[in-house]
Amino acid sequence: MTKRLRYGIIGAGSNAEKKHVQGYKNLPEVEFAAVCDSNAERAAEMAKRHCIPGIYTNYKEMIEREKLDLVSVVTPNFLHAEIVEYALLHGVHVHCEKPLCTTVEEAERILSAKERSGKRVMIGLNNRFTNEAVYLKQWIDAGHLGTIYSAKAGWVRRSGIPGRGTWFTNRKLSGGGVMIDLGTHYLDLCLYMMGMPEPSYMAGAAYRNFVDSTSRNRNGYKGDEQGVFDVEDTAEGYLRLANGASVMFEFSWASNIEQDQHYIELRGTKGGASLKNGELRIFGEHEGVCVDLQPKLYADVKRQDEFRHFIDCLLDEGRELMAPPEDGLILAKLAEAFYASAETKQPVVLRT
Ligand SMILES: NC(=O)c1ccc[n+]([C@@H]2O[C@H](COP(=O)([O-])OP(=O)(O)OC[C@H]3O[C@@H](n4cnc5c(N)ncnc54)[C@H](O)[C@@H]3O)[C@@H](O)[C@H]2O)c1
Repeated sequence: MTKRLRYGIIGAGSNAEKKHVQGYKNLPEVEFAAVCDSNAERAAEMAKRHCIPGIYTNYKEMIEREKLDLVSVVTPNFLHAEIVEYALLHGVHVHCEKPLCTTVEEAERILSAKERSGKRVMIGLNNRFTNEAVYLKQWIDAGHLGTIYSAKAGWVRRSGIPGRGTWFTNRKLSGGGVMIDLGTHYLDLCLYMMGMPEPSYMAGAAYRNFVDSTSRNRNGYKGDEQGVFDVEDTAEGYLRLANGASVMFEFSWASNIEQDQHYIELRGTKGGASLKNGELRIFGEHEGVCVDLQPKLYADVKRQDEFRHFIDCLLDEGRELMAPPEDGLILAKLAEAFYASAETKQPVVLRT
């Protein structure tokens, strides 16, 4: 093997620890060079836990000094665009957590920086990489569902606010509430399965009914009683796509429902599918009889790995990214349209 890729982490919080460190640490091509967190203690603790030599509180300084090939951006959402743009323009590839950014203008800036730098950016849309999602996408791409004309996407929680009063519930820092947090995952997954068709119009409704409820934090997530909570805890809506298909969606951090669930449902002219709470079912017809398929996908055999995939794409420029930044632009357009529609109580046209 030739040179290893020098890797840096920006944002040493919970997701960096659980996902990015775990994802990259066993890849032989990756050398952990540095970690940066504006909270010096957090950066130092992560460095100690994982034997990372460089410790920084300023990401620009880290990028300038460490000659990095690759960074993960795992900070609160409002910082993603500026960090991604800075890293790209300084010759560093970026694995950015979802959402890629919080506005369309930011997404466009990232795409422009990517073009100018020739570096690559992938979004941490991990739900595209589960065994079930990878298998279903192959099944769809092989034409087994026919034309998908209608779909549903949802992720609803009874008590799942990711910390009342933390950056997640502060619009300035997060870009939005549950639509940005959970919607980005499952509306994305649904559209990804449909081939990311262009949107036509969006009708959305946003609700904020659990601001004062102290019992609706997600298990294990600490809140801040004095913190801001100015985002929606529930997002519902209808999306019409330019190809004629439609998607209904519902996302909630907190709601008075029987039980939590996350799902996509796809209805096609030849078959359908549902991926519900991690279980994949495929619906079709065989010799005049309706049949269900339940693929057996063993968890210990990974069909695709987000981190392996990104490294493979960096080593082979011709390889297509499974979660490219262009899809981040589509998601940003949808989020902006959702909030505009929720506020005006009118559908928002995305394409004429
Ligand atoms: N893919 C997923 O399933 C998933 C799950 C959780 C979070 N996320 C995403 O990951 C990102 C981080 O979420 P989290 O739960 O780890 O949050 P967190 O609050 O636990 O961690 C964020 C870290 O960023 C640090 N930070 C803030 N400003 C900084 C700056 N200027 N420079 C460097 N570090 C800075 C904070 O001090 C903190 O340690 C968010 O974008 C979130 O949407 C994705």
